[in-house]
Amino acid sequence: MRTQVGIVGAGPAGLMLSHLLHRAGIDTFLIEARSRDYCEARIRAGLIEQWVVDLLSETGIGERMKREAMFHDGIYFSFDDALHHINLRKHCGRGVAVYGQQEIVKDLIARRLADDGQLHFEAQGMTLADIDSRKPTIHFTKDGKQQTIECDFIAGCDGFHGIARPAIGGIATHYEREYPFGWLGILAEAPPVADELIYAWHERGFALFSMRSPSIVRYYLQCAPDEDADKWSDARIWDELAIRLGGDAASRLKPGRIFEKGVTAMRSFVCEPMRQGRLFLAGDAAHIVPPTGAKGMNLALADVVFLSRALTAHYSEGNDSQLENYSKTCLRRVWKAQRFSWWMTQMLHRFNAAKDFDMRRQMAELDYVTSSEAAMTSLSENYAGLPMAAA
Ligand code: DHB
Repeated sequence: MRTQVGIVGAGPAGLMLSHLLHRAGIDTFLIEARSRDYCEARIRAGLIEQWVVDLLSETGIGERMKREAMFHDGIYFSFDDALHHINLRKHCGRGVAVYGQQEIVKDLIARRLADDGQLHFEAQGMTLADIDSRKPTIHFTKDGKQQTIECDFIAGCDGFHGIARPAIGGIATHYEREYPFGWLGILAEAPPVADELIYAWHERGFALFSMRSPSIVRYYLQCAPDEDADKWSDARIWDELAIRLGGDAASRLKPGRIFEKGVTAMRSFVCEPMRQGRLFLAGDAAHIVPPTGAKGMNLALADVVFLSRALTAHYSEGNDSQLENYSKTCLRRVWKAQRFSWWMTQMLHRFNAAKDFDMRRQMAELDYVTSSEAAMTSLSENYAGLPMAAA
């Protein structure tokens, strides 16, 4: 079997890449180790930058998003028992939207199938070969049959634990930072406690209020990195949220049925370069950000926008300069998102070794960020998403 671009992984990056390339008349073959149900049910963050809202609309997959997403022009920081509002749109002209990652995955899968796209789930034993040659290949087993796909290019969109990054092997440098905490995330049927998201600093640890619909809320609580989610009874979660949110938000908190609980580890990670031969990495396969600020999926989608532009220039004009610059173009954005995610994380979390000095410094930083026009502008342009570089 042959294709122009073989894609490994049916997360937002792989699916969006196959959608964008299809629109450019480029043939793709997407292979995923998990089942379609698994991919569509995988719960992740759900905050999309303004340009992603526009991308979904402009490429014809924004209908449900426009109806169901919750659009926000601002955010709150909570500290000292009070809410402090930052108007993103006033400071940078852009806002954000809450639309669960798995909703984008569902919309993309439905669209690719409607467009007769080649999507193959539950492929076993996937391996990549000959990535330095002009005909890299993907090998896998499906329904007991060994298969090989010969490609012009391969996109590794198979996440942090996938097979694509190891295939780059010895030439890559990894930059990494681990954090001494994780997030306990829940989904619950309960009314919102505010009109915008709340990022709460508390001496017991960070808390985040987000939402999925007018009647479904999403909360996160800083916890141990290896926390056992079962140790958190519903009552303990609601009590802890009330303490950490404090003030008016706590008084509006109405416990409801919690139907999902999970622990997320926190790490910053970058693999450089993001390309070897004809294998291009995109999304979590190449980089991980800590979740504070929800940059992960936005970055993954930025990578595949750059990659689709580069592949389109290759096929339509025979121009490979964007392919040559792919890694550099992506990494400029990746490192800015790394910096921002690290900065939000260090400002808002409790560090066990933190001394009184560090806590005072965090309070000063939050005070500055919520009162200085310059600081609010900087926060807003990063949070709502830096402009996408031109082709
Ligand atoms: C969500 C997750 C985040 O990490 C964040 O910063 C904002 C919102 C969410 O899942 O809704």
